[in-house]
Amino acid sequence: MTESLLKPRNFSDIPFFNASSDGVLTEEMRHFYEQEGYLVLTGFFSKEEADKLKARAGEIITTFRNEENQSIFSTISHAQSTSELFRKSARGIQLFYEEEAYDQDGRLVPCKEKAINKISHALHDQDPIFKSFSYQPKIRHLVHSLGYQEPKLLQSMYIYKQPYIGGEVVYHQDATFLYTEPMTTMGLWFALEDATQENACLRAIPGEHRSPLRRRYVRQGNELIFKELDGTSYPTQKEVFLEVPQGSVILLHGLLPHASSANHSPFTRQAYTLHLIDGKSMYEKENWLQETESMPFQQLMG
Ligand code: FE2
Repeated sequence: MTESLLKPRNFSDIPFFNASSDGVLTEEMRHFYEQEGYLVLTGFFSKEEADKLKARAGEIITTFRNEENQSIFSTISHAQSTSELFRKSARGIQLFYEEEAYDQDGRLVPCKEKAINKISHALHDQDPIFKSFSYQPKIRHLVHSLGYQEPKLLQSMYIYKQPYIGGEVVYHQDATFLYTEPMTTMGLWFALEDATQENACLRAIPGEHRSPLRRRYVRQGNELIFKELDGTSYPTQKEVFLEVPQGSVILLHGLLPHASSANHSPFTRQAYTLHLIDGKSMYEKENWLQETESMPFQQLMG
C-alpha cells in the first residue's frame, strides 16, 4: 500500500486516494478503478466550491416558479416511467420531490425547500455556475487519463437526500439509463457534504462491473419503459459503504451496481453527479435521454 492511500478517521475502511492537483489519475488509481469498478478521490474540490454549488441550488429552488411541473422521483415505484415531466427534464432544469413530500390529499408539505429530491438533468448545460464546475479542466484531465478520447457530458443531478424523508435508491447500474456500445458510461459523484452511513452514503458491490447489464430504460413510442435483459441478482453480501468526506469525488463504472438507503438522520447528504460517455462509442437511440438539435451533448474540450 502506497502513501497515496488514505483512510480518514471516522470514515469506513475503503481505500481512498488523494486527488492530484490537476485531476490526472496515477497508474495505481487507474488500476484500482479497473479492478473494483469505483474509485474515491479525496480533496478533489474545496469547501468553497461546495458552498457555491449548494448556494446556487438553493437559489434555483427559490426562483423555480413552475409549480405545475412537480414530480415524485422513486426508483421503487417507477412512477417516472410514464411521466412526461421526466422526459421534459432531459435537457432542462427540473425539480423532483420526495414521495413523502406530499400529504394524503396530494398537496406538498409546507416547506418546499425541505422536500426536494433532486434537480436535474441538464444543470451542467443550462446553469452558468454548474456549467463552470462541470466543464473544469480538472474533470477533463481525470477523464482523459482513463482513456476517454471524446468525453461528452450527458446529464447532471443535484441530489439532496433530505433529513428524515430522503428516499431509498435501490440497486441499479447507470448503464441502464445511458447505454453505449462498447460500454463507456461513467458516473462522477461529488460529495458536497460528508456522506456516512448515518446520512445514507452510497453503497456499491466492488468488482461487479464485470457482471451483465440487468435492464435498460428506453423509449417506446411516447412511453419510457424498463426492458429486462438479465435476471442475475446483485450479490449484496459483498457490498461496501462508500463513506466519503466533503470534497471527494467517487467514480462509478456504468455497470457497477450501487444504491443508497433512506436517510433517517437529521442531516442532508447533498451531492452533485455527472454522467458521461465517450463520443467514440455508439450512443443508443433507444435511450431515454437524447440530445436535441438545439441542445446537443457537449464535449469536455481541451
Ligand atoms: Fe446511479
